[in-house]
Amino acid sequence: MRQPKTTMFFTKDHPKPHSIISKCLFFIFAFAFGVFSNPYLQSLPEFFQFSETSFNFSSPTLVPEPVSLLHNMSEEELLWRASFAPQIRHLPSTRVPKVAFLFLTRGDLPMAPFWDEFFKGHDGLYSVYVHPDPAYNGSIAKNSMFFGRRIPSQQARWGLIDMIQAERRLIANALLDSSNERFVLLSESCIPVYNFTTIYTYLINSNMSYVATFYDPSPAGLGRYNPAMAPQITAEQWHKASQWFEINRALAVKIVSDETYFPLFERFCLIRQKYPCISDEHYIPTFLIAISWMNNANRSVTYTDWTARKSHPASFGKDDVTLDLFDKIRYSANCTYNGIRTRVCSLFARKFLPDSLDLLMKLGPDLQIFAQTNGSIYH
Ligand SMILES: *[C@@H]1O[C@H](CO)[C@@H](O)[C@H](O)[C@H]1NC(C)=O
Ligand SMILES: *[C@@H]1O[C@H](CO)[C@@H](O)[C@H](O)[C@H]1NC(C)=O
Ligand SMILES: *[C@@H]1O[C@H](CO)[C@@H](O)[C@H](O)[C@H]1NC(C)=O
Ligand SMILES: *[C@@H]1O[C@H](CO)[C@@H](O)[C@H](O)[C@H]1NC(C)=O
Ligand SMILES: *[C@@H]1O[C@H](CO)[C@@H](O)[C@H](O)[C@H]1NC(C)=O
Ligand SMILES: *[C@@H]1O[C@H](CO)[C@@H](O)[C@H](O)[C@H]1NC(C)=O
Ligand SMILES: *[C@@H]1O[C@H](CO)[C@@H](O)[C@H](O)[C@H]1NC(C)=O
Ligand SMILES: *[C@@H]1O[C@H](CO)[C@@H](O)[C@H](O)[C@H]1NC(C)=O
Repeated sequence: MRQPKTTMFFTKDHPKPHSIISKCLFFIFAFAFGVFSNPYLQSLPEFFQFSETSFNFSSPTLVPEPVSLLHNMSEEELLWRASFAPQIRHLPSTRVPKVAFLFLTRGDLPMAPFWDEFFKGHDGLYSVYVHPDPAYNGSIAKNSMFFGRRIPSQQARWGLIDMIQAERRLIANALLDSSNERFVLLSESCIPVYNFTTIYTYLINSNMSYVATFYDPSPAGLGRYNPAMAPQITAEQWHKASQWFEINRALAVKIVSDETYFPLFERFCLIRQKYPCISDEHYIPTFLIAISWMNNANRSVTYTDWTARKSHPASFGKDDVTLDLFDKIRYSANCTYNGIRTRVCSLFARKFLPDSLDLLMKLGPDLQIFAQTNGSIYH
């Protein structure tokens, strides 16, 4: 069943050498044009990385896409393919970096119309991946950016290790597209709170990843640490974070390649044990500390309202969606971005209930979240 896809271009129909060369030249020019004509790329980070995968080089798109999202790779093979990273750090300036939006969902995507307006007009600068419950059989409109973006999924239950497996699966699938440079985890209740240009520029030009790591000595933090994880993971290294990360490619490769710490979580981070452990709140933050990963801003770019001090954050329904709410989300903090103090700290927000959509669609233009092009695709 599995085919060695990387060789497809050369084996499919044995193209003559001159046609290979002319195709290559065409794409080199096409890529170069994309890079130089891209207004967002003021300062390209130097650590862009590639991974190997199967690309359709005869596709007329500027950036070649992996052949199919619904591949038949085993989990093992997927992670292995995604773990490739180049050893040459300097990019031959032929790539337009993309932001990968990773949706970890149960089923429907009630906020899809809002996202579609956000994405509109920015083709080639983003990719969408959806990991629903495997039993989900709903459909999505053909003209939606989410159409055809479902990846092979498995069950992901809150608190259990399969939640982390699902996150790694999403990251790995997105890594197969070597243009993806930033990776943001989102749920069906998340929305963007700035327009695409702002978010893309912010992330692509950032030299940090955004994982809200902190040390929590309480029972809800250190109390979940199983000493059997030592010496690889010590109590001091045991950290906590919100699940909703935003990471760069170098860190994404590290996470899917982890063969040291992840197996310990599989064995010792379990809900029903002496140290009841919620894997999605601990794996990535603890991993970052364990590998001494320096380029983390230690904050999240996804806003969550915990002011009610309950075990679940506030949800926003139709009665809560106002311009004031967006002011609160957008300007509730000061933070550092590439060494500069800024008020733009949250790029996304949760949790928005399905009944908030109508109002959000009305406010989208006022909030400048939607692209300023003519006409909605939702009439
Ligand atoms: C590659 O792209 C071309 C042009 O879009 C298309 O005709 C062809 O079917 C694609 N090949 C694969 C394997 O997807
Ligand atoms: C995956 O396997 C199924 C059944 O074996 C097959 O029908 C399908 O075409 C395969 N898909 C890809 C993308 O190879
Ligand atoms: C989708 O799944 C639901 C619940 O499992 C089931 O009742 C329904 O028949 C399924 N629909 C289709 C089109 O398969
Ligand atoms: C993030 O936290 C780690 C561990 O506490 C620390 O070493 C690092 O300096 C922090 N990074 C920033 C940007 O504050
Ligand atoms: C952020 O900084 C500005 C200017 O220094 C200040 O007026 C504002 O109160 C600060 N906001 C928060 C939430 O700390
Ligand atoms: C990130 O960029 C800022 C501004 O250029 C710089 O001060 C800082 O040292 C950089 N951090 C890293 C980890 O490269
Ligand atoms: C995008 O948002 C920024 C503020 O974040 C605004 O200055 C800019 O005009 C907006 N662009 C569009 C096309 O709406
Ligand atoms: C939007 O439509 C109006 C009238 O149809 C047209 O004059 C204008 O140029 C259009 N603007 C854009 C950005 O396409």
